[in-house]
Amino acid sequence: MDSKLRYEIEEQINKELYSAYLYLAMSNYAESEGFKGISNWFIVQAQEEIDHAMKFYKYIHEMGDTLQLNAIDKPEPKWNSITDVFENGLTHEKYVTSRIHKLMDIAHEVKDYAAISMLQWFVNEQIEEESSFRDILDGLKLTGGDINYLMMLDKELGQRVKTAPESETTKAKTA
Ligand code: FEO
Repeated sequence: MDSKLRYEIEEQINKELYSAYLYLAMSNYAESEGFKGISNWFIVQAQEEIDHAMKFYKYIHEMGDTLQLNAIDKPEPKWNSITDVFENGLTHEKYVTSRIHKLMDIAHEVKDYAAISMLQWFVNEQIEEESSFRDILDGLKLTGGDINYLMMLDKELGQRVKTAPESETTKAKTA
């Protein structure tokens, strides 16, 4: 594998694991505010991020390469409302999307067709990732974070369960 591409995939494993850590911090915040359902939604989100990291990890090994694992940053919980949490989550997912696109650009540059095929899954996944945060955020903004809406949302997001990585759908994420 091209060394620049491998380095960026290593970086991506780190970013996906950081995402899991960040969403655990968000889950922790929701729990501390009394929203157990929202807390559950973020736990499932964190588990999904670990799946993403593992997909990259396995890919590197399938290609007969080894990798270096770097330190994961500490999340800085500075949120002051549930709306704020989802706003930050969406901003973070947009950043992850930009990282995936960067990886895709490199794969095209070095004509690595196997990497392009693997990365296409992540391009599609990021559409769903951003969309699930955006949908929740739209509801929160429309209702101004009203407590009755928050309680309804908490109940709905409490139903989210972990699905197999290959069968994730937007519906499963928000159901
Ligand atoms: Fe792994 Fe939420 O992107």
